[in-house]
Amino acid sequence: AFAGADVEQLPLLELDGFLPDLDAVDADTWERAAIVWINFPNNPTGAVAPLDFLAKLAKLSREHDFLVAADEAYTELWFDEPPHSALEARSEGNVAVFNTLSKRSSMTGYRSGFVAAERELIDALKQFRPSVGTAPQEFVQRASIVAWNDEAHVERTREIYRRKRDVLLTVLRRKGIRVAGSVATMYLWLDVPGEQSSEQFAARLLEHGLIVSPGSFFGAAGEGYWRMALVPTEDECRRAAAILDEVL
Ligand SMILES: Cc1ncc(COP(=O)(O)O)c(C=O)c1O
Repeated sequence: AFAGADVEQLPLLELDGFLPDLDAVDADTWERAAIVWINFPNNPTGAVAPLDFLAKLAKLSREHDFLVAADEAYTELWFDEPPHSALEARSEGNVAVFNTLSKRSSMTGYRSGFVAAERELIDALKQFRPSVGTAPQEFVQRASIVAWNDEAHVERTREIYRRKRDVLLTVLRRKGIRVAGSVATMYLWLDVPGEQSSEQFAARLLEHGLIVSPGSFFGAAGEGYWRMALVPTEDECRRAAAILDEVL
């Protein structure tokens, strides 16, 4: 949008596994496409992308000469099996993967991450980047090296999210709340019970001291859902579960 391009948004619908429907995009739109941004594991739905979806999009990128930009911020917050990365489809097309320490290492404030892509694209990015940003401070760079080289803390982080998730899922399931998506990430994407809108439902929980996001805040396709973010402490998540137990 900053470059004056048109932005076409593709809804992520539950019936499509929260994947954009690539077959619904018309030929003219593919021809005009310069970049297709995807985000899997996805915020807010927690959906992951199967490899055949990533390969199909990569093939389209070659056919129509666009770049697949894959935001994989949540790629290490998984529970059953590690999700696929768009990098696995790089031989099929033009793929750039964006990653960050914000989720894997809970280092949000450090503003540190990486882009993985073909050399030509990285060379261009290296030229462009100093004009629009500043280099990370040296202490951030040093901390980043340590964080990327250590997997033990990432495993601990995954375990903590798993425990918080289990605490909340137990009560949500008992109360008959349908869990949609929520395969990976630190989010639970949940069905709004009854006839109320997602905003009305979130406002009701807020009155009881629980802050959740109404699905509609993420776009029209989010109506009918609400999102819980497992970012408070484990004790706070237990308190949230107790509130849900009482309110739902
Ligand atoms: C999809 C997605 N990408 C990226 C980020 C954060 O990335 P960074 O802190 O590196 O800007 C978030 C965090 O909220 C996110 O939800």
